[in-house]
Amino acid sequence: MNFRTIQPMRYALAAVAAMLFCTALPAAAQSPKQIQAALDSALTRFKNVREGANADYIPALARVDPNIFGIALVTPNGKVYTAGDVTSQVSIQSISKVFTMARVIEDLGPNSIVERIGVDATGMRFNSIVSVEFSQKALGGPEINPLVNAGAITATSMVPGATRDEVWKRILDFHSDFAGRPLTVDKEVFDSEAATNQRNQAIGSLMYAYGFIKDKPAQATDIYTEQCAISVNARDLATMAGTLANAGRNPVTGKQVMKAQNVPGVLAVMATAGLYDDSGKWLYRTGLPAKSGVGGGIIAVSPGKFGIAVIAPPLDAAGNSVKAQLAIESVSNALGGNPYAPQVSGKR
Ligand code: DON
Repeated sequence: MNFRTIQPMRYALAAVAAMLFCTALPAAAQSPKQIQAALDSALTRFKNVREGANADYIPALARVDPNIFGIALVTPNGKVYTAGDVTSQVSIQSISKVFTMARVIEDLGPNSIVERIGVDATGMRFNSIVSVEFSQKALGGPEINPLVNAGAITATSMVPGATRDEVWKRILDFHSDFAGRPLTVDKEVFDSEAATNQRNQAIGSLMYAYGFIKDKPAQATDIYTEQCAISVNARDLATMAGTLANAGRNPVTGKQVMKAQNVPGVLAVMATAGLYDDSGKWLYRTGLPAKSGVGGGIIAVSPGKFGIAVIAPPLDAAGNSVKAQLAIESVSNALGGNPYAPQVSGKR
């Protein structure tokens, strides 16, 4: 063999080696030991934080153990890291809004949400009625998003299905595919919220009155309330986030749950509005698309690197888990998760 035949073979071998090396790289190019250490350290640092309080406007949430504190991280190669309590379940609450939005985009196309609901931050609380008033067509049209209650109830109303059962199954199955196991509803939480959600019923009616919801607003609010009561642990949530981090393919089960091309839009809305009126502060600190729920969970996504979730029920004034924010920020910083971090390229 002369140089001419050996050289291309060497390039080919180098390319294969590089591909193998790259696909085997764990989150943020950290070793499994470093990833585990980042989770353990966040657990130790923040487990004694006592700020915040359980949500109590849904009576069943006030009864949840405020000491639950679990961290889970899933990498695109399907490795799951955990620290603390990752088996206790809480209700998913507003985190479900991400997956119902994704369901609608999958079913009705990428423009469906933008055109009907909007993708702008309201700068107001998640259950604001004033933001609905400002969104009326006469005042400029959709200026809300599918992660606040008004937009989320509208998104639920858009999920295709001939009957309530069909719509519900479509939503629940989709959540289960993201989590990689069949999820179920916490009946106590569902009943508790259904008995006290007059404000959301009013929001659903207003969205119907203003033409955002086309049909059956009461059914939409009821299904939305049920999706918020889906039971999850930190590991489920991290797998859901890990699926978004992995271009829509569940890294644990291997199932392509949503189209890769629809993922960036979902992440963009999470970045814009995932932590409500604290979304800007959160993005400034972490750069991570994320979503909180009043059950105490937060998910965050570092695209191509990891999905992370923390459950810790006490919330701050904006409705976001205090300890979950601290823990995710700490782990992500340790692992280089911020997608806006300086990238070295070109001549220096
Ligand atoms: O509709 C509600 O008020 C609740 N089911 C969900 C709100 C929520 O999770 C806000 N999140 N931080």
